[in-house]
Amino acid sequence: MLPLEVDTMTQSSPRILGLSGEYRSGSKSGMMVNHALNYAESKGAEIVFWDCAVKPLPFVGEDGCWEDENVKEFQSLASSCDGFLVCSPEYHGTMSGVMKNTFDWLYDKHVGGKPFGLMSTLGGMQNSNTLNHMRIMLRWLHAWPVPEQLAVGHVKDAFDEDGSFVDNALENRLHVLVDSVLDTCALFASRSE
Ligand SMILES: Cc1cc2nc3c(=O)[nH]c(=O)nc-3n(C[C@H](O)[C@H](O)[C@H](O)COP(=O)(O)O)c2cc1C
Repeated sequence: MLPLEVDTMTQSSPRILGLSGEYRSGSKSGMMVNHALNYAESKGAEIVFWDCAVKPLPFVGEDGCWEDENVKEFQSLASSCDGFLVCSPEYHGTMSGVMKNTFDWLYDKHVGGKPFGLMSTLGGMQNSNTLNHMRIMLRWLHAWPVPEQLAVGHVKDAFDEDGSFVDNALENRLHVLVDSVLDTCALFASRSE
C-alpha cells in the first residue's frame, strides 16, 4: 500500500512489461508472469510479455551481441514501458542465468525510476533468496522494486491442470503485488506531470 493516495483513474494506462527467468509462457515462472500481466490488464494496463524462447537474447559479451536486433528491440521496448512484472525460478539459491542475462541487457536509461514487482518460483521450500538478489541487483539499475513480493515454494503443486491457482490466498497476494506496481506507476506519473 502506498503512503499517498493516487487517483489512478485520471492517469493514462501504464505499459507493463513481463519478464521471466524461464523460457516459454508455459513454464512456471512464465505462468506467474502471465497471471500477473492478465490481472494488470484487467485493471487497465497495457501489457507486453517478452518470451526469450520466441526472441532469444544473446549472452552479454558473446560475438555479435552488441548488434543483435532482438537486444535493440528489447531495450527499446523496456524504455517504452512504465513498470515491470518479473518472475525467476530459484536455481542453486539465486535467480536463473536467463533472468540475470535478461537484466544484464537493461541499464538505468531503460528502467531507472520505474517500479518492479518481483516473484520467484521454487521446486523446494519457499524462501526469499532470489527475491533479495533481484532487489539488490535492481539498485544498480536505479529501479524501484515495490515492497510487496511473492515466492512460490513447491511450485509444481501451485496450479490446476488448466493453469489456474490452487490456492486463492496465493492469487490474492499476486493481485496485491500487481496493485502496488500499478499504484506506484500512477504515483510516479502524477509527479512527472
Ligand atoms: C539448475 C537448477 C537449480 C535449481 N535450484 C533450486 C534451488 O536452489 N531451490 C529450489 O527450491 N528449487 C531449485 N530448482 C527447481 C526450480 O526452482 C523449479 O524447477 C522452478 O521454480 C520452476 O519450475 P518448473 O521447472 O516446473 O517450471 C532448481 C532447478 C534447476 C533446473
